[in-house]
Amino acid sequence: MTPDPFAARLDPLDPPRRLLMGSGPSNAEGRVLRAMAQPPLPPGHPGVERLRDQVASGLKAVYRADTPYGLPLQGASRAGLEAALASLLEPGDRVLVGVYGHFGELLCTLAQRHGASVERVDAEWGAHVDPELFITRLTAPRPKLAAIVHADTSTGILQPLEEIGRACHAQDTLLLVDAVLSIGGCQLETEAWCLDMVGGGLQKCLGGPPGCASLVWSERAQAVLSRRRRPPHSAYLDLRRLADSWLAQPRTSLAATPMLYALAEALSIVQAEGLAERWKRHQRAGAALKAGLQAMGLRLFGDPRHRVPMISIVEVPEGVSEPGVRQQLLDDHGIEIMAAFGPLRGRVWRIGSMGVNARLECVLAVLSALETVLASYSVRLEAGAGVRAARERFLRE
Ligand SMILES: Cc1ncc(COP(=O)(O)O)c(C=O)c1O
Repeated sequence: MTPDPFAARLDPLDPPRRLLMGSGPSNAEGRVLRAMAQPPLPPGHPGVERLRDQVASGLKAVYRADTPYGLPLQGASRAGLEAALASLLEPGDRVLVGVYGHFGELLCTLAQRHGASVERVDAEWGAHVDPELFITRLTAPRPKLAAIVHADTSTGILQPLEEIGRACHAQDTLLLVDAVLSIGGCQLETEAWCLDMVGGGLQKCLGGPPGCASLVWSERAQAVLSRRRRPPHSAYLDLRRLADSWLAQPRTSLAATPMLYALAEALSIVQAEGLAERWKRHQRAGAALKAGLQAMGLRLFGDPRHRVPMISIVEVPEGVSEPGVRQQLLDDHGIEIMAAFGPLRGRVWRIGSMGVNARLECVLAVLSALETVLASYSVRLEAGAGVRAARERFLRE
């Protein structure tokens, strides 16, 4: 018999078991993974309504906004951000973007792709955008939309949003916020801070897998969506269409129910833990990790007053191979940490403590593995100092 030229050997799936202590995805909760293995629901099944209601109330709670406008969207987190920009903006609209890291750049790119005229307020990597400076740029001429990242995973810095939110509100500029890293991990107040559209993901502090974005938006943003005369260039990322299909009664279709199971289960875990408790847990784990890294003699990157808890950006010591250490952590310890983007590439590692991994046990595992690996590069370290300091800090927080 002639061999089939298209036949290839397809092995059964066997992904490696790793502790994901990078910039995300983090390990998913077991309950979330089990939920995804449940049978998909057919359109029109009463279970679909229940699932939608559960997701809708869970999103309101985690974004802290009592708004009827919100939905999940299967795709990378940036699919949510792109849907927001594609749907709110029309060609030529003026947009002001605060940029203090890689994900601010992403907002600029997405807005430009949808025809906006983008102006930027930049801050150097390691700092946040000065709210006063940002606010002065909101006048003459007024931008239709301002956009900024709440916590930038590339630099580990948190952006204060309250003042910016109020100023945008006062002068009728919409404010879009990327909360992909911060959602579920630190305080985010969509309604109280007057944020008009906020986008998040599932794979960082919410304890789910990548592939599920979510968005919530305000009455003001809804008014802009409703007034729009020409549909956006993207048919798939048209928020009006997505919202109509999410809210349709009776439901005719609901794509990818396993991903919705994941989101619903993750939100239910957040509710059982309590959102404030979850923020506190991320705070404790992040503070412990940072204390441990410093006690090992490593230097943290960025303005210490504005570091996020859920990711720690640590400088690579002299004479040490940045990729070499990551590889050895993976090979010898099954622990993943991540490299950096842009100006920080090769200079820092990004170590996350997010979602289910925002726990002392995971923090101590990464610190002791890192100590062992760095010792093999002859970095002089006091044995056990990192683990000791992390533990003490965790118990004190
Ligand atoms: C702050 C921030 N925004 C946006 C994204 C994009 O997420 P995704 O890769 O799921 O599109 C990320 C991913 O790391 C992020 O950290």
